[in-house]
Amino acid sequence: MARPLLWLALLCASLTFTASAAIHLELIHVDAKENRTVAERMRRATERTRRRLASMVDVTAPVHWVETQYIAEYLIGDPPQQAEAIIDTGSNLVWTQCSACGAAGGCFSQNLFYYDPSRSSTIRPVACNDTACALGSETRCTSGNKTCAVLTAYGAGAIAGALGTEVFTFGSQNVSLAFGCIIATKITPGSLDGASGIIGLGRGALSLVSQLGETKFSYCLTPYFSDAVNTSHLFVGASAALSGNAPVTSVPFVKNPNDLVFGTFYYLPLAGITVGKTKLDVPATAFDLRQVASGQWAGTFIDSGSPFTSLVDVAYQALRAELARQLGASVVPPPAGTRRFDLCVAAAQRDASKLVPPLVLHFGSGGGGGASDLVVPPENYWGPVDDTTACMVVFSSAGPNTTLPTNETTIIGNYMQQNMHLLYDLGSGVLSFQTADCSTM
Ligand SMILES: *[C@@H]1O[C@H](CO)[C@@H](O)[C@H](O)[C@H]1NC(C)=O
Ligand SMILES: *[C@@H]1O[C@H](CO)[C@@H](O)[C@H](O)[C@H]1NC(C)=O
Ligand SMILES: *[C@@H]1O[C@H](CO)[C@@H](O)[C@H](O)[C@H]1NC(C)=O
Ligand SMILES: *[C@@H]1O[C@H](CO)[C@@H](O)[C@H](O)[C@H]1NC(C)=O
Ligand SMILES: *[C@@H]1O[C@H](CO)[C@@H](O)[C@H](O)[C@H]1NC(C)=O
Ligand SMILES: *[C@@H]1O[C@H](CO)[C@@H](O)[C@H](O)[C@H]1NC(C)=O
Ligand SMILES: *[C@@H]1O[C@H](CO)[C@@H](O)[C@H](O)[C@H]1NC(C)=O
Repeated sequence: MARPLLWLALLCASLTFTASAAIHLELIHVDAKENRTVAERMRRATERTRRRLASMVDVTAPVHWVETQYIAEYLIGDPPQQAEAIIDTGSNLVWTQCSACGAAGGCFSQNLFYYDPSRSSTIRPVACNDTACALGSETRCTSGNKTCAVLTAYGAGAIAGALGTEVFTFGSQNVSLAFGCIIATKITPGSLDGASGIIGLGRGALSLVSQLGETKFSYCLTPYFSDAVNTSHLFVGASAALSGNAPVTSVPFVKNPNDLVFGTFYYLPLAGITVGKTKLDVPATAFDLRQVASGQWAGTFIDSGSPFTSLVDVAYQALRAELARQLGASVVPPPAGTRRFDLCVAAAQRDASKLVPPLVLHFGSGGGGGASDLVVPPENYWGPVDDTTACMVVFSSAGPNTTLPTNETTIIGNYMQQNMHLLYDLGSGVLSFQTADCSTM
């Protein structure tokens, strides 16, 4: 609904637009690129999930803090400057740190030079009275300001800067996008793993997919722990499509009734969970999208920007207990010095995949009728913690540092999405997925 508005706004600013962009981005797993050991990667990913959970606390803006591992390289401006972004379906804004950061001294360090708007002939500030400035909760204008400010507060930090438009080059495609030129970041150090910023793919009007006026995108993420540095893929627009013979499962998105204008998350109708042959005894309402406090909504959403899955506590406890029962004598205590792991077996990851049963997420069709299943193989919810121990990497969303609505929310993280091609069809409101070897795409 908001899309035509932005389209109009940008046309008003007389920008050149690619009418229909088919964008293909190659994503690199940060930890693979940096050649870290398996144990280090696991520790880092767990740490990120913890921060992500803490971050949804007291979020006044409907954008939450974002940390993930899959980054895309792109060019910005004319002449082009290099930048790297984390790809995140759990937020909207497209942003990169700008050179004024250095002067202000208020940004985190990144792998590449800060983008310098003064060296680009295509940067345009967005004025306060521009429609684009009124499209998202990430921007604001106080009276007296001429340019549209970006100011977003997260639980784990905040970013500030100005909204501009600029030419982004993804592969061979140039597109003009409204983006945040960020000059102050106050966030947990290391959160972005050296990337320059974020490309948001959420439902909001300022996300990449919304700005392009596209109604679908797809991605396929290669495994975390493979030794090969194989690129993952993101397709936006016409090139986003599933292919091959693997069966396709479709699940309708759940629309947040409170979220129609500035919504961000892709909620799903999770109805139940089976592990091995046992259906967990959890009321379906535990996963439902519902208002848990004034203006605060909890539910189940899928997120490319969260490493691990977090389940509402009642489901987590049921899963843990049932798996412990099925694994019996194979269960060992978590290795000394690790935190958060709650269920482990003495086995290398390869062998753990033989011990641990698959997990099945059952989705309701939303309108009655049949259900759809996401079958999660062991390697997509268990991980190697050291050479001889594998642990479950699904966590409880409740905890000492999480409050409403986070502690009542289920987030399906990207570890569960490895080697799966997921198509977000926003036009028909359906998520489709199939298993895939993402490295061969
Ligand atoms: C990664 O590290 C391993 C062991 O330290 C080494 O054998 C390998 O060559 C490294 N790979 C790259 C791409 O640097
Ligand atoms: C894309 O942008 C780059 C850098 O601004 C420029 O060199 C190139 O000519 C542009 N290509 C198109 C098709 O506009
Ligand atoms: C925004 O305000 C400026 C004057 O400050 C005016 O020239 C311009 O037409 C306005 N633009 C819109 C879209 O209202
Ligand atoms: C907006 O205006 C206020 C007061 O006029 C000023 O304090 C603030 O720095 C301005 N923000 C930006 C981003 O220009
Ligand atoms: C995956 O990466 C490895 C080395 O990094 C390479 O040898 C292999 O060909 C890649 N696989 C595909 C399908 O591209
Ligand atoms: C909770 O937050 C406190 C204060 O920020 C911190 O010291 C503690 O480590 C956190 N606990 C967990 C389990 O993250
Ligand atoms: C979530 O936090 C609220 C307080 O913020 C608390 O009342 C509620 O019991 C918590 N829910 C869970 C499942 O821990």
